[in-house]
Amino acid sequence: MLKKINRRKFIKTSATAGAAAMITPKTLFSSNKIKKIKMGFIGTGLRGQWMVHLSTKYPEIAIPAICDVDQSMVDSTIKILKGAGRPEPRIYSNGDEDFLNMVKNEELDAVYIATPWEWHHPMAIASMENGLHVGTEVPAALTVQDCWDLVNTSEKTNKHCMIMENVCYRRDVMAILNMVRRGMFGEILHCQGGYQHDLRHVKFNNGKQPYGGGVEFGEKGFSESRWRTQHSIDRDGDLYPTHGLGPVSNILDINRGNRMLFLTSMSTQSRGLNKYVLDHGGKNHPNAKIKFKCGDIVTTTIKCHNGQTIVLSHDTNNPRPYSLNFRVQGTKGIWQKDNRSIYLEGISKEEHRWDSEDSYLKKYDHPLWKKFENQASGSGHGGMDFFVLRAFINSIKYGTRPPIDVYDAASMSVISPLSEKSIRLGSSSVNIPDFTRGKWKKNKPIFGKWPEV
Ligand SMILES: NC(=O)c1ccc[n+]([C@@H]2O[C@H](COP(=O)([O-])OP(=O)(O)OC[C@H]3O[C@@H](n4cnc5c(N)ncnc54)[C@H](O)[C@@H]3O)[C@@H](O)[C@H]2O)c1
Repeated sequence: MLKKINRRKFIKTSATAGAAAMITPKTLFSSNKIKKIKMGFIGTGLRGQWMVHLSTKYPEIAIPAICDVDQSMVDSTIKILKGAGRPEPRIYSNGDEDFLNMVKNEELDAVYIATPWEWHHPMAIASMENGLHVGTEVPAALTVQDCWDLVNTSEKTNKHCMIMENVCYRRDVMAILNMVRRGMFGEILHCQGGYQHDLRHVKFNNGKQPYGGGVEFGEKGFSESRWRTQHSIDRDGDLYPTHGLGPVSNILDINRGNRMLFLTSMSTQSRGLNKYVLDHGGKNHPNAKIKFKCGDIVTTTIKCHNGQTIVLSHDTNNPRPYSLNFRVQGTKGIWQKDNRSIYLEGISKEEHRWDSEDSYLKKYDHPLWKKFENQASGSGHGGMDFFVLRAFINSIKYGTRPPIDVYDAASMSVISPLSEKSIRLGSSSVNIPDFTRGKWKKNKPIFGKWPEV
């Protein structure tokens, strides 16, 4: 995998040192109001630049430093900051580990991490070790041990490690959560979610544009094709579980009254990426010989403590419309997103027939969306990015626990390595760790509730 050696070396020397010395102070994330928040950005590619842009809309956010190994990305980010009337930040672009200098030398309150997946964990650990709150892009870590490191380091340092899972804030998903909390679906039995997105033009491009135009990746690719494609060569599992699992975790109160116990995964044969290279680059293109390990469709089934089952799907290598595959089913009814449909016993117009979801989503629009609709519109991904950034900023400003916290970061992200393990073991059942160490029994749901609303 790209950059493995440097990352390993770094982890050995600094990151996991804290795990053994774990303590759980009573004052975890205690109230500590601050006026101006100094936030650094690590990784200012396409996602990082967008989040920098959104951050400039908050007068209380200062961005004194940014870090990216690619000078062209740094330059674009400086333009964004200047365009927003912000001062030029200090730049850390001197190689893969210059982020260490940034988190050590700058007087920051927080960092936003939007780098390739393999860097999220070492960057989050180094930031927390240096006293900074972390907002990390998804997934937060790639191995079981790395997930534990995040939990242990967050507990030891009293620093947030929020996974910036924006889909939790999708308007329809929050309306359904609102209905679930009102008991309209009865007792929840089963949920589905996933990442079903044709990413072939993201995994391959011509090295000049982010989407398509060629079949290059790695050193010759641009943006995500530089690093994301390699994961499909090296790994067979659900590589991107959090967009589906984030909303489902809130609906099922995962880590707050419920938890995921074990999973099994299966993957299909791998065909789509090779076919794409052949179709668009021809059989003589060097990439036509590459063997992709990741099965095109990976299906993971999860069992929860309170009885429910979850099915997650990962499906990114073949032609298909975008869908996060949401379904929520309980003893009184069912919502199924792909059909934009809902059925609630005694409420739906006709027995055994779907209703359109539209009037329900409108009627049960979540209070957060009602309140901030105007600010959220135009802020990216249908407004979700506004809410996830606001939640991170507020948790720092008011010293409150982020609504999607380090335990969620770990339990959502750990699905990837565990699904890889299950597939390796012939779809054996694999236990999911309890990252809360039993606190899930007493923890109460906080997402989408006061003080967030
Ligand atoms: N939540 C969402 O909706 C959403 C959307 C897009 C991307 N993402 C996530 O955001 C992250 C970034 O994605 P992207 O699309 O911006 O990718 P990208 O390739 O455009 O950007 C990544 C940036 O990280 C930089 N980088 C790589 N190694 C570095 C290092 N050691 N130090 C500093 N900078 C380094 C690269 O130069 C690049 O500019 C990924 O984890 C991705 O999954 C999330």
